[in-house]
Amino acid sequence: MARILTGIQSSGRPHLGNILGAILPAIALSKDADNEAFFFIADLHSLTTIKDPKQLCENTKATAAAWLAFGLDTQKNTFYRQSKIPEVCELTWYLNCITPFPMLANAHSFKDKSDKLADVNAGLFIYPVLMTSDIIGYNADFVPVGKDQKQHLEMTRDIASSFNRMYGETFVVPKPIIDERVMTIPGTDGQKMSKSYGNTIDIFLPDKKLRKVIMSIVTDSTPIEAPKNPDNDNVFALYKVLASNTKVSEMRARYVEGNYGYGEAKQALFELILSRFQNEREAFKYYISNPVELEKRLQEGEAKARIVIREVLSRVRKKLRY
Ligand code: TYM
Repeated sequence: MARILTGIQSSGRPHLGNILGAILPAIALSKDADNEAFFFIADLHSLTTIKDPKQLCENTKATAAAWLAFGLDTQKNTFYRQSKIPEVCELTWYLNCITPFPMLANAHSFKDKSDKLADVNAGLFIYPVLMTSDIIGYNADFVPVGKDQKQHLEMTRDIASSFNRMYGETFVVPKPIIDERVMTIPGTDGQKMSKSYGNTIDIFLPDKKLRKVIMSIVTDSTPIEAPKNPDNDNVFALYKVLASNTKVSEMRARYVEGNYGYGEAKQALFELILSRFQNEREAFKYYISNPVELEKRLQEGEAKARIVIREVLSRVRKKLRY
């Protein structure tokens, strides 16, 4: 049995990038009879950026509802909030003490912000160490993530191996699962879709609001009549990752022919999102309006997860003679 583990921050509501890049592939892996999955909401990581407790709490609920809406089986798998298992923080401290400063100074998550050091908090700096604890604290064998997490996974492997070398075999050294074919999903402005860039598409928004977001996708100013290059356009880029091959070919032909405006393409993308995610949108609404059930499912997972990390932590403490 292989243990699959992955997490999503609750620094915002889950977006199309999280869904296509993480939730769908992770749930597919969890359905394999040879796998058992640990999926969690990285709400402690989110504290490095979100300072409004109410907002963080709502984001966490929305992230949990998204996992369930996409059909995560919480009986077979373990589903939890990172913050409800404080053992992860103790483990992070032990790992902090063997993690070299230059390794963390080289992490993209820090480097991207290092030109404005006044805005960097210590949590952001040790972000990869907490992520390491998330993974090796639960004996994960495989970690499915998007390409942007590749460096964090390399650090996880380095930190776990260093500990094993220093104190003797303690941790499973996990392997990333990064599907190079799954593109980085672009946001409404064409950059990588990311909560921190404010360019996300939240597929769970009510129709009207969702349509407004889709209509805000940035396009160039080629007139309606003129032929357009689909490969240079953000609307087409998003349509391509969601539609069937036939539909994609049809839209490509319309771009190239001309007399097809970006407004029409956006409307087609909007309708596609509504139809493709109709069931999930309804299920999401159900979980958001049934917080007691959401809470129950999370608490059951938290009890299961805690047993695992406690066992790992007791191994670590023994090695450290604590
Ligand atoms: P986060 O919350 O930024 O993203 C969660 C997952 O979604 C993927 N992803 C994307 N995939 C394709 N296109 C995009 N535009 C896109 N945006 C995000 C990410 O690659 C990721 O797989 N540090 C992690 C959370 C975390 C974690 C962990 C993950 C904490 N501990 C342990 C795995 C294991 C993060 O910030 O992901």
